[in-house]
Amino acid sequence: MVGTGYVGLVSGLCFAEFGFETLCVDKDQSRINSIAKGVCPFFEPGLDDLLVKHLNSTKRFSLSNNLSESLKEASVVFITVGTPTKRLENEADLNDVYAVAEKISENIVNYCVVVTKSTVPVGTTRKIKEIISQKSSSDKFDVVSNPEFLREGSAINDFMHPDRVVIGTENKKSEDIMRQIYRPLYLQKTSILSTTIESAEVIKYASNSFLATKISFINEVADLCETVGADVQDVSKAMGLDKRIGEKFLHAGPGFGGSCFPKDVKAFSATAKKHNIEFSIINAVNASNESRPRRIASKIKNRFNNKLDGISIGILGLSFKPNTDDIRDSTSIIIANELNKSGGNIKCFDPHAMTNAKEILPDIDYCKSAYDVCKGSRVLIIATEWNEFRALDLKKIKELMKDPVIFDLRNIYNETEVKDMGIEYHGVGK
Ligand code: UGA
Repeated sequence: MVGTGYVGLVSGLCFAEFGFETLCVDKDQSRINSIAKGVCPFFEPGLDDLLVKHLNSTKRFSLSNNLSESLKEASVVFITVGTPTKRLENEADLNDVYAVAEKISENIVNYCVVVTKSTVPVGTTRKIKEIISQKSSSDKFDVVSNPEFLREGSAINDFMHPDRVVIGTENKKSEDIMRQIYRPLYLQKTSILSTTIESAEVIKYASNSFLATKISFINEVADLCETVGADVQDVSKAMGLDKRIGEKFLHAGPGFGGSCFPKDVKAFSATAKKHNIEFSIINAVNASNESRPRRIASKIKNRFNNKLDGISIGILGLSFKPNTDDIRDSTSIIIANELNKSGGNIKCFDPHAMTNAKEILPDIDYCKSAYDVCKGSRVLIIATEWNEFRALDLKKIKELMKDPVIFDLRNIYNETEVKDMGIEYHGVGK
């Protein structure tokens, strides 16, 4: 595994769990040192335990910062480096991917399969092949696209029990090797789809973009529900019962965030544009989602006639979703920032993401618990649906807050129950 981000580290440890000898490589020596001590560089439930197990007991998992040396031993090399959005452009930045391909081209000793697992635009794996071909003969390697579909927060389970595995190859030899690697999943009846390399690359972006579209769709329906007296939760439940639609990813909220959807919808559209195809739906999804957290912040400001000066606002949840400390493109950070700029006194709490949040939002107050946030606050915003925020003691909240107003951006409370407590309540799409 080249790259020890979510995909690389989780996949490396899960392949070790399957029984393979796995080596994770990263150019960042301090990151490697910390992982070698059993400390994951990010919070992911269950990953620390898996790391300690494979470092100490099975010894099937090792680490290195020397890519050239590591490549000499590998029969399969997974490229799992980041592909962030380029600065000032919507395209994916592939510099790290191509740098790894260069290294591979210089260091292949025995035949190996080079697998793109990073999310890369269609055409990238062919380009990797071209780069490697410049210094290695074509019988020494094959390229494969094997996109990853794991979610942060449930990454191990998603890896071990995926809905499908996609393997894009151009010959039987590399396909057979990949099928052997995923044999433990095949034995548990996971669908393993063989496609062309191009199809595999498109499948990844099309899947993420479609899920993002579902979210933006229901978010706009939620806006309508708010104005016409409908309830978006009833609407999405009834829609989801239609098997052609499906219930997943129809939860209205503050917009999608994280390190994948926002960057992938942009990159997918940028790829289409390069091929003279205008992705009007994806572009609309991107625009709708980019404006959403600010519109939510405006709604909160409007409640106070756009005068937030001196108003104490508590925010629960800073990560882009529960069970992660990842704050990349987190809507809750955008909302916190907007309200802070508008003069609100912001207090917040997140079970795992406060260390990361402090780096980009240093001038707000960080509290020790959800109730600590409530103390003396006028407004409480539930921004991320961590389990521990789902059953807060409303009576206690009412006592701790001053004339409380709750904005439940994830619809995790029952509107009637909260209102019956004498608390002003605003859900999403209600
Ligand atoms: C996403 C995909 O779900 C994974 O399949 C994919 O492998 C991953 O991107 C990736 O490309 O690496 P992830 O970003 O970890 O996974 O998180 P999701 O659970 O998909 O949530 C993304 C965002 O959508 C979050 O901000 C979440 O709050 C939001 N969301 C999700 C909603 O607002 N409503 C929903 O109904 C579902």
